[in-house]
Amino acid sequence: MERVLDPVTGKEVEVVRYSDLGIGNVKRGKVRDVYDLGEELLIYHTDRISAFDVVMPTLIPHKGESLLKLSVYWMERSDRVFPNHFIAVEGSRTIRVKKAKRIDIEWVIRKYLYGSLWRAYRDGRREMYGMRFPDGLRMADELPDPVITPTTKAEVGHDEEISKEGAISRGLVDRETWGELEEATLKLYAFYKDEAKRKGIIIPDFKIEFGSVGGELIQIDEPPTHDSARMWAMRYYRPGEQQERHCLDKEFLRECLRRMGFSGEGQPPELPPEVVREVSKRCIGAYSVISGRERVEDLGLASVDDLFGECRKN
Ligand SMILES: Nc1ncnc2c1ncn2[C@@H]1O[C@H](COP(=O)(O)OP(=O)(O)O)[C@@H](O)[C@H]1O
Ligand SMILES: [Mg+2]
Repeated sequence: MERVLDPVTGKEVEVVRYSDLGIGNVKRGKVRDVYDLGEELLIYHTDRISAFDVVMPTLIPHKGESLLKLSVYWMERSDRVFPNHFIAVEGSRTIRVKKAKRIDIEWVIRKYLYGSLWRAYRDGRREMYGMRFPDGLRMADELPDPVITPTTKAEVGHDEEISKEGAISRGLVDRETWGELEEATLKLYAFYKDEAKRKGIIIPDFKIEFGSVGGELIQIDEPPTHDSARMWAMRYYRPGEQQERHCLDKEFLRECLRRMGFSGEGQPPELPPEVVREVSKRCIGAYSVISGRERVEDLGLASVDDLFGECRKN
């Protein structure tokens, strides 16, 4: 644990890189430390942040606590749509969950043409994930139906695309489970998207994970958060453009890093205080807006252009 100057409040704040709950068996993910209790897990939310699958050297004040609050907010509500692993909150950074046998697939679902799906479309692909995409779509346009674009959950490095048949033949899931999880992903997406919309937030896509406990399928890991989903403020949404300037999710940091000349290769740079401040505000904001405590226009967000200067806008 260290104390740093909080770029949001100007006071000192505690940040945590590595937790120490005094229990053996800790597995450190990129963002969370997972303690194995046998049938249950303790998931500790640190202030680490990753981008392009690389953990940054700089910690983000308020990140761990906001991530926990947003996760709990969602999981307490979404379990009526599909059960999840959440049991209880154990302090400001830790939750207790059911330990599941993880299904090694990231269930990515998208309702907007963005990110890698946009790049494939821009490069001319029209048949993707068993769907025919019409001509004439712009970056960030809403799609008529959600598309599920799953990837494998790689232990190290980047995740890769996987089809239904690929997942079944590799033994990641059986056919029946695939069908159940596809349906669960669609139902959960509809739930999260509608809730977020009421708070002025577009969730254009997200990824979730599932596992099984005693033969029952449950949602594990995290619901859509600033770490695992995109979150666009509806009032700043402009189809045809990049949405990074005002988004509440991690794409904001990725865009800052790109402008600093880092896109995943080599040593990640220390983040300047202004970037830390804006990322921190977005972490706090993602929870406070989704939970209805604040409106996105009251967060006082600076855009990427404000930070890096309009002249370098591409
Ligand atoms: N209920 C659960 N049962 C088993 N594994 C889980 C559960 N919830 C989360 N996990 C796993 O714990 C890890 C969470 O830590 P995280 O920092 O998100 O790791 P990662 O770097 O893999 O994203 C992930 O590997 C996730 O698959
Ligand atoms: Mg994760």
